[in-house]
Parts: sequence; C-alpha cells; structure tokens
Amino acid sequence: MEKPALTNLDINPLLKKRWSPRSFTSQKVENDVLARIFEAARWAPSSSNIQPWRFIVGRKGDKTWDMILESLVDFNQKWAKLAPVLVLSVGNKISSKTNKPNKIFQYDVGQSVAYITFQVMQEGLFIHQMGGLNTEKAAKLFQVPEDYQVLTAMAIGHKGEPELLEGDFVKMEKSDRDRLTAAELVFEEAFGNSADFSAIR
Ligand SMILES: Cc1cc2nc3c(=O)[nH]c(=O)nc-3n(C[C@H](O)[C@H](O)[C@H](O)COP(=O)(O)O)c2cc1C
Repeated sequence: MEKPALTNLDINPLLKKRWSPRSFTSQKVENDVLARIFEAARWAPSSSNIQPWRFIVGRKGDKTWDMILESLVDFNQKWAKLAPVLVLSVGNKISSKTNKPNKIFQYDVGQSVAYITFQVMQEGLFIHQMGGLNTEKAAKLFQVPEDYQVLTAMAIGHKGEPELLEGDFVKMEKSDRDRLTAAELVFEEAFGNSADFSAIR
C-alpha cells in the first residue's frame, strides 16, 4: 500500500513517498544498507558540530532488538515486533565543546534522525519513529551514561501489507494523512500572519 503525501506543489519524490507504516515484512535489512543509513546520520549538521547523536541498533533475533522492543510501550510493541530493525536514538546532554548543558541537543538528534529517514527512503525501506517508550528503562538496560538521554525509537524495514497487523492497526494503516496548511505554519511580519508566496516583490 502506498500513502504518498498529497502535496499542493512538487517536492522531493522521497519526501512525497515517505509515510510511517506499522506493517513490515520479515525481510532482513542487509548490513551494508544499515551502514549507509548511519553514515547519513553522521553527516547531519549540528550546533558547533558537536554531533550529540548516538544510536543503538538491534536486528530481529539479537539481544539488542529484544531489549529495544521491551522498552516500548505496549501499544508500540504490538506492531513494532514485526520490524526487522529497531533503533534507539540517544542524545548527549552536555556539550563536548564547553562541558556545559547543550540546550539544543534534542534538535540536533532529531535532525540526524531526519537524515536517517531520508536515507531509509533512498534504500527503498520505510521508517516509523516512536516517542512511546520507557526511556528510563531503556537507559538502564543499555547502561546509558548519566550525561546521555534516551530520546526516541525507530522501526525500520521493508513495508508490509496492512493485513500483517493486528486488530485496529489495520484500519489505522489505511487511514488518510493530514497536515496543517502552509498558511497556518509559515508567517511574515508577525507571528500568526501567514506568509504570502504569491505576491510579486
Ligand atoms: C518523534 C515522533 C514520535 C512518534 N511516536 C509515535 C509512537 O510512539 N507510536 C506511533 O505509532 N507513532 C509515532 N509517531 C508517528 C507519528 O504519529 C506520524 O509520524 C504522524 O502521524 C504523521 O504521519 P506520517 O509519518 O505517516 O506522515 C511518532 C513520530 C515522531 C516523529
């Protein structure tokens, strides 16, 4: 099943194609593909080039995958158990340049996950990010140091048919996608004042 973004204007085809499925086939993700996905993450920009992102990767069948799945909330476990790859994102709270708290580390980690997302699509795979996890539990299981914070989880793999999912997830998989309009998001002159892209300047 495809659920491309119903964009008003042409955008990058990979961004148009991307959505967050919950159904994944059992097909494995090859190591060279995974290596390229994390190579993309390495090259994300970050504040002062601190690169506060860290990742923990599990392949279905290994101990890491089991521990990531165990860290997810029940709702997410129910579908993420299909995914051949589960990843945790972790951020360094302390700037490696100043040794003081890095106020923007979560933004930087999110940006590197956006890079992962783009490379995942380039590889013909799909990704579903999750905030629904017990981050303290994950930190304990993986012995994450105090200076670091577990942030999100990701399921990566080959998209499967909705029918691989249980119960209500099938309907959710087939549901429409919606977005705020550009007018609600992009402003000029004052916050809330929609930017006008049609005016000749
Ligand atoms: C940071 C983040 C956390 C998310 N947490 C969850 C989650 O815990 N469980 C889930 O099923 N989906 C989760 N999602 C997926 C979003 O619900 C999804 O991206 C959003 O509805 C837009 O749909 P689309 O990605 O298909 O465009 C999360 C997405 C992001 C970016």
